[in-house]
Amino acid sequence: MSFHPIEQAPARLNRSELAVPGSQPQMFQKAADSDVDVIFLDLEDAVAPDEKAQARKNIIKALNEIDWGKKSMSIRINGLDTHYMYRDVVDVVEQAGERLDLIMIPKVGTAADVYAVDMMVTQIEDAKGYKKRIGFEHIIETALGMQNVSEIAAASKRNESLHFGVADYAASTRARTTVIGGVNENYAVLTDPDPEGNRQVHWGDMWHYALSRMVVAARANGLRPIDGPFGDFSDPDGYKAAAYRAAVLGCEGKWAIHPSQIALANEVMSPSAEEIARAEKILAAMAEAEAAGKGAVSLDGRLIDYASIRQAEVLVEKARQIAA
Ligand code: GLV
Ligand code: MG
Repeated sequence: MSFHPIEQAPARLNRSELAVPGSQPQMFQKAADSDVDVIFLDLEDAVAPDEKAQARKNIIKALNEIDWGKKSMSIRINGLDTHYMYRDVVDVVEQAGERLDLIMIPKVGTAADVYAVDMMVTQIEDAKGYKKRIGFEHIIETALGMQNVSEIAAASKRNESLHFGVADYAASTRARTTVIGGVNENYAVLTDPDPEGNRQVHWGDMWHYALSRMVVAARANGLRPIDGPFGDFSDPDGYKAAAYRAAVLGCEGKWAIHPSQIALANEVMSPSAEEIARAEKILAAMAEAEAAGKGAVSLDGRLIDYASIRQAEVLVEKARQIAA
């Protein structure tokens, strides 16, 4: 390992994260009763300008009055370039800060954006005498945010997670798509012709680089990488495919923009019984190898070594967290 230690963000289950518009209070109780891990009550893009003030009031009331159980509660504030943002932070943290676990900062572009919100939240927490510190979740969803993702990830002790906001990222990079997440038939390659002259189209994942870059910045700073929205809520297979590919790259969770996506995210982001069994088998085989003075052995015809222990421990630890 490097001499540089990586401090891990507080362990928080974040397999699924439900977006709930702050202007739709009739949806709050259903969200509270769901199996989601994290809920963010939205003040930003799901709320029209005329509804921002009322949405803030709805959120304050709901944080104070609804029993949200063990769920982690977040608010998505408005962007730092709007005049709504300061009041989102001041009103909600002052009036409901004790039930707030996280603040989600959209369209974060630089480390200074994080610093500014940190300064405000710190003052309010100190003035109110709150014991608990509110964590930050950042949506990486602009070209500027992606360019500065490493500095953003390192910008505050409050940082807990980075989220890939695919819709705004597409807009910011002027990607040629109008759907939220998913694949694009124009992001593809043609195979060479086979002996009969036939060619196949292989679709690619146009978000691979962005998601991978964000995962690296998150993990290098001890944060959770979380994949953002998948807009077509009538396509559970498409959602699961997107979630699996994010999980394979290292993401710990995915947004649900519809309650039907919660179970899909929880399923994909929880290690399966087979994965856990295999991980436990690796740990047992390596313990035996170590006792025999060996650093690497073969298990079911494949090499395993000390790196295998670290991979297996990640899965076993996740299973423990879910069971807790
Ligand atoms: C989320 O905020 C997104 O823009 O995808
Ligand atoms: Mg967005």
